[in-house]
Amino acid sequence: MVKIAVLVSGGGTNLQALLDAQAAGALPDGEIALVVSSNPKAYALERAAGAGVPTEVVRRRDYADDAAYTAKMTELLDTRGIGLIVLAGFMTVLPDAFCAHYENRIMNVHPSLIPSFCGEGFYGLHVHEAALQKGVKVTGATVHFVCGEVDGGPIIAQHAVDIAEDDTPETLQKRVMVEAEWKLLPRAVADFCAGRLTVANGIVRRKA
Ligand code: GAR
Repeated sequence: MVKIAVLVSGGGTNLQALLDAQAAGALPDGEIALVVSSNPKAYALERAAGAGVPTEVVRRRDYADDAAYTAKMTELLDTRGIGLIVLAGFMTVLPDAFCAHYENRIMNVHPSLIPSFCGEGFYGLHVHEAALQKGVKVTGATVHFVCGEVDGGPIIAQHAVDIAEDDTPETLQKRVMVEAEWKLLPRAVADFCAGRLTVANGIVRRKA
């Protein structure tokens, strides 16, 4: 069993997709063991509590520097034997040292087809605003491993979503979640926990 920590900051619908997958038996080799929020008011904390998953709140601004924040986070995760960290709408940029400590063991879901509409400043609704502003006809979601570069790590899975002419950032965000994020993320987590993912030279391969 791989112990999973899910890091959140907001509504937590991707966390909910993982909790639902676990309840449905779709995560047979993993266990959601901890939810860490950067925001004490995140609704995601209520979702975790509702599912009986322990929660912690850790705010970057409560720590003097990256080293102190990294020390707190790694202590929290390592003492619980966490084997996979999932960023599910987590809005704090993790320090390089943290990413290196858990190389290829941190997964993020991003609401676009990377390398489009990603990197510093592209998060949440902003990503969909940028896609509509550019006039792209297809967008989607990406699940990837996390490295020091924002949205730059090896890509695990992607799913494309058509853009409609009357889409608003809100309608597009919802459709990308429903059609792509909430399906891709639990599948990628299940694959990781089952040992089906390998990474070589920055390329992820999935064993059948
Ligand atoms: C999701 O759309 C997720 O892909 C995005 O924030 C939303 C969080 O929603 N993440 C990013 O933009 C990261 N760069 P949720 O809290 O309901 O899962």
